[in-house]
Amino acid sequence: MRVVLEQLTKKFGDVAAVRELDLEMRSGEFVALLGPSGCGKTTTLLMVAGIYRPTSGAILFGDRRVDHLHPKDRGIGMVFQSYALYPHMTVAENIGFPLELRRAIGKPERDQRVREAAGRVEIDDLLDRRPSQLSGGQQQRVALARALVKRPDILLLDEPLSNLDARLRHDMRGEIKRLQKEIGITSIFVTHDQLEALTMADRVAVMRNGRLQAYATPDELYARPRNRFVAEFIGTPPMNFFPAELGSRNGSVVARAEGIEVELTRAQLPRGEARQATMGVRPEHLSIVSPADGNVTGEVYVVEPMGREQIVDVQVGERRLRVIAPPGFTGRIGDRVGLRVAAERLHFFDPTSGERLS
Ligand SMILES: Nc1ncnc2c1ncn2[C@@H]1O[C@H](COP(=O)(O)OP(=O)(O)OP(=O)(O)O)[C@@H](O)[C@H]1O
Ligand SMILES: [Mg+2]
Repeated sequence: MRVVLEQLTKKFGDVAAVRELDLEMRSGEFVALLGPSGCGKTTTLLMVAGIYRPTSGAILFGDRRVDHLHPKDRGIGMVFQSYALYPHMTVAENIGFPLELRRAIGKPERDQRVREAAGRVEIDDLLDRRPSQLSGGQQQRVALARALVKRPDILLLDEPLSNLDARLRHDMRGEIKRLQKEIGITSIFVTHDQLEALTMADRVAVMRNGRLQAYATPDELYARPRNRFVAEFIGTPPMNFFPAELGSRNGSVVARAEGIEVELTRAQLPRGEARQATMGVRPEHLSIVSPADGNVTGEVYVVEPMGREQIVDVQVGERRLRVIAPPGFTGRIGDRVGLRVAAERLHFFDPTSGERLS
């Protein structure tokens, strides 16, 4: 089912939680709503679910406006962060609960659907237990099965993994992604975790202060962030930024910052006239070399071994830059090093508006 949000706005008194949000999700697409706490993700999801009424704007499922429909008539399944399982009911009763409200579905069919939903999330053997007898991950699966039992057209998930430990979160990431693709159900996944959004979603909508900042595939968000906020929010460790001046040299455009001077590629050329820029470079696009070979030199501030790689903070003048170094890097605190910049991977933003210049 295709989902369209048009100029969707929600105000709570003076607080505009969601502002003029335009978003279109293709049928079967997995979309993540990503942004910091309080940016309006849950509010957006609850409007799609019909639990909150929009202040203005429209919500369409397919070609049909659904704004006036009661949540139970929208064909949605929802998983909340807290799971909200009933403690006095068994797993089977919890999963089947949404069907209880539907007279048309008799007991045999209900049991069959409960088994089917439980099978999808691999908890068929736990149907007689109560929620208190389950691990966090198993409870999470029960909540998923309960959302799927009505065979909804649209699946809504609000931070479903945040109560799980890091290892289980990673496993469930993959499982939910597979399940979503298997069923082919249009899904909206709310998270403040950029890694979750990037790894799971087909497209990611980045929000800030109730406004949409970018809507693109994970690859596009990473490679060509539309503005500085998105550039900083996506990727870990985050992108390094510094002020740069743009000038010309032998007919080409060059950027100068912190003693670094690089020529811009065609793809990096600003669309308008720009003299000043905020230059951004990801830690994986800087490499540590001997001082003589670097675009710039600095001093190792700290080294964090991570097994497969090391994160090295290098002090360059007033600025500290994060660099990803291979495990073989043996530098220590205080060492003088050179930094080589992958010039074609540099990003340039307007220092005032934060918009991407190219
Ligand atoms: N029922 C409400 N009444 C008043 N203000 C609300 C209400 N619900 C949310 N808000 C406000 O609207 C804004 C967006 O809240 P929302 O819950 O959508 O954020 P979120 O992006 O889901 O954040 P989090 O990651 O912390 O869950 C916040 O400023 C919040 O304080
Ligand atoms: Mg929320």
